[in-house]
Amino acid sequence: MIFSFSLYFGLTIILALVLQARAVPHPVAKRSNSDLSLTAQLRLADTAIERYKLLPNDSDFVFNFTDIEQIPVATSQNWPALVDVGAAISMSQLPACSMSFLHLHPRATELFALNSGHILSEMVPQAGVLDSNNSQRVIRTNLRPGQVTIYPAGSFHTQVNPDCEPANFTAAFTSDEFAVSLVAEQLFSLSDGVIARTFGQSITGDDIEKIRKAIPSDMAIKVEECLTKCGMAKR
Ligand SMILES: *[C@@H]1O[C@H](CO)[C@@H](O)[C@H](O)[C@H]1NC(C)=O
Ligand SMILES: *[C@@H]1O[C@H](CO)[C@@H](O)[C@H](O)[C@H]1NC(C)=O
Ligand SMILES: *[C@@H]1O[C@H](CO)[C@@H](O)[C@H](O)[C@H]1NC(C)=O
Ligand SMILES: *[C@@H]1O[C@H](CO)[C@@H](O)[C@H](O)[C@H]1NC(C)=O
Repeated sequence: MIFSFSLYFGLTIILALVLQARAVPHPVAKRSNSDLSLTAQLRLADTAIERYKLLPNDSDFVFNFTDIEQIPVATSQNWPALVDVGAAISMSQLPACSMSFLHLHPRATELFALNSGHILSEMVPQAGVLDSNNSQRVIRTNLRPGQVTIYPAGSFHTQVNPDCEPANFTAAFTSDEFAVSLVAEQLFSLSDGVIARTFGQSITGDDIEKIRKAIPSDMAIKVEECLTKCGMAKR
């Protein structure tokens, strides 16, 4: 998963972490429960019974993905009922002719189910998983509606929608706060010297900066050949 909304989502997480890091520590004893978010109160609850008391309405147990005001990712941050459940879910779509940025989830395995459309997916598992040529194995899948694939926690993955219609999917995660890491952007946030050595000095100085600036910030990357095939204007 992870598309246009995910820039917002990713940034939200990053921002939250930055703010958390900069916050002056509060003496916890002085805080009343009401100062804490519902998510925080649920995390502090002594027992599951206490957690149910904090979620008195049956509607607390429903997340409405048709509400367009919501980001299409439900985690314990925006759906408190997920606290201690150890799972999260997304229902969204990958627009026609687009590719999700290469990413990974540091804390969760993802089950990615296609509801409609067509997805070509690539996933790089951990080091040491080799193909028949002794090269890094890349798991490529061609998903049609009703099919599900697995992205183990920490595996790099991306999806391409090569068709002219959006691809609707549902993705489940094995953490209520799975988070996302952006492979290209985060790799190129390192110092120039580190990047140059990492790439065997094949890129240096200006080239590194050129690559940094070229990494798309639009999280649904346009697939040129597909846009032409579908007669869609590049935006
Ligand atoms: C439960 O629902 C009622 C009525 O819809 C609302 O007034 C109340 O604030 C809700 N309680 C919580 C804890 O969300
Ligand atoms: C879900 O959200 C949609 C769009 O905002 C709204 O029309 C619908 O009533 C909501 N459903 C429930 C059960 O609240
Ligand atoms: C292994 O290498 C051969 C020859 O280059 C190639 O045809 C084949 O597709 C490769 N196999 C894999 C699994 O990449
Ligand atoms: C895909 O999802 C969108 C938005 O929820 C919906 O309007 C559309 O009907 C879905 N397409 C299919 C083929 O189910």
